[in-house]
Amino acid sequence: MHRRLGVQTVERYVIQGGKRLSGKVRVSGAKNAILPVMAACVLSGHECVIHEAPRLRDVAVMAEILTNLGVRVRISDEGRTLHLNAEGLNAFEIPTSLMREIRSSIFLMGPLLGRLGRVRCSHPGGCAIGSRDIDLHLMGLSALGARLEEKFGYITADAPSLRGREIYLDLPSVGATENIMMAAVLAEGTTVIRNAAKEPEIVDLQNFLNRMGARVRGAGLDTVRVEGVAKLNPVEHTIIPDRIETATFLVAVAATGGEVVLENVIPEHVEAAVAKLRETKALEVEMGHDRIFARGARRPQAVDLKTLPYPGFPTDLQPQMMALCATAEGTSIITETIFENRFKAADELRRMGADIKVDGRSAVVKGVKALSPATVEAPALREGVALVIAALATEGRTVVDGIQHIDRGYEELEVKLQSLGADIRRPGSE
Ligand code: EPZ
Repeated sequence: MHRRLGVQTVERYVIQGGKRLSGKVRVSGAKNAILPVMAACVLSGHECVIHEAPRLRDVAVMAEILTNLGVRVRISDEGRTLHLNAEGLNAFEIPTSLMREIRSSIFLMGPLLGRLGRVRCSHPGGCAIGSRDIDLHLMGLSALGARLEEKFGYITADAPSLRGREIYLDLPSVGATENIMMAAVLAEGTTVIRNAAKEPEIVDLQNFLNRMGARVRGAGLDTVRVEGVAKLNPVEHTIIPDRIETATFLVAVAATGGEVVLENVIPEHVEAAVAKLRETKALEVEMGHDRIFARGARRPQAVDLKTLPYPGFPTDLQPQMMALCATAEGTSIITETIFENRFKAADELRRMGADIKVDGRSAVVKGVKALSPATVEAPALREGVALVIAALATEGRTVVDGIQHIDRGYEELEVKLQSLGADIRRPGSE
């Protein structure tokens, strides 16, 4: 499946840093939008056509899970368009091996319950960034009438019929909001999700579901209403651009200098990131309608930042900002309120000479004049791209191992960076 989507599995980058980025790059479709949308295709027995699919490992794994369930998966337009048809859906169990590969497999619980009334999967497991519990997902699904049983690491859920209810989320969980939305689409009556997450990817999922014939309102606000419907129809949808990829490139321009135009962006989705980058004085930004012009201005000044649910500063950009602050003038305080273990980039940045002290949910980053090249290892997706940013900004040869993590969430990162003049290679893939 990876081959078909052209996703490589080569393991390391060799980066000759110290070059300014310049040129134009087109941002891909959003990873965190397409994954729930792919899961939602299970709800209907009709053709679902999804455009602007990013070619990522996570998309390939989700496609593999769907194929295992009997969904017909066809890829066209060099992997950028997915044709999914769940008419032949013939299974409700997700193989543990695939569950472990991507957390977003948990998004299948809602749609499988809605369509088949049954689902069996294993706990998706935590990963490098924290426990990543699913109690809110399970609470929501049982509120809609699912009977849950957890045994030997498996969760089995049965729901002969689902009934709409009012559900209050203890915290605005993105995944729980999406899972409950999808389970509620075919339920009897109306479901109200309070304290819902407000991320743009949830709005994209709402738009997809409504195009399918569902009746969802309020995504992007803290209360989402879903009126159950009896039937769905074929759907065609274009995934929104990836706001985290957009912001990642902005941090890279701030760290390396240069002038870059980002195309295929939704500027309002990156407002918190742009505001914080402007505060560092290292980046000048002009926002267009669907593009952003960014120019590296000077060495960054230290800033304090605190990650929050959308529209606050995104946790998925925190490791990248840590890499930028590592060579800022002054000391930055980074507070991570979303995940309990998301400072793993610090261990690797220290190998490059960064001065970072981690204490629970806070990291104190004392800016040094310059980092030094080294061999580092990506511990997870966003932490890995943070190391790439640090390497691009550091004179000399840095090797970043473990880049299979980066392939999960960035389509052809090295190709895009090469087109901006970066000296970055994947040995063995040339
Ligand atoms: C989504 O993860 C994203 N992933 C994450 O992006 C992102 O960091 C996160 O939202 C927050 O914005 C996808 O959309 C595929 P949450 P999700 O449920 O849904 C706790 C990336 O790099 N929690 O909002 O798993 C949880 O432990 C990834 O692209 C519970 O306690 O995030 C975490 O501390 C990383 N119980 C916090 O809430 C639950 O039932 C936020 O989790 C669910 C979550």
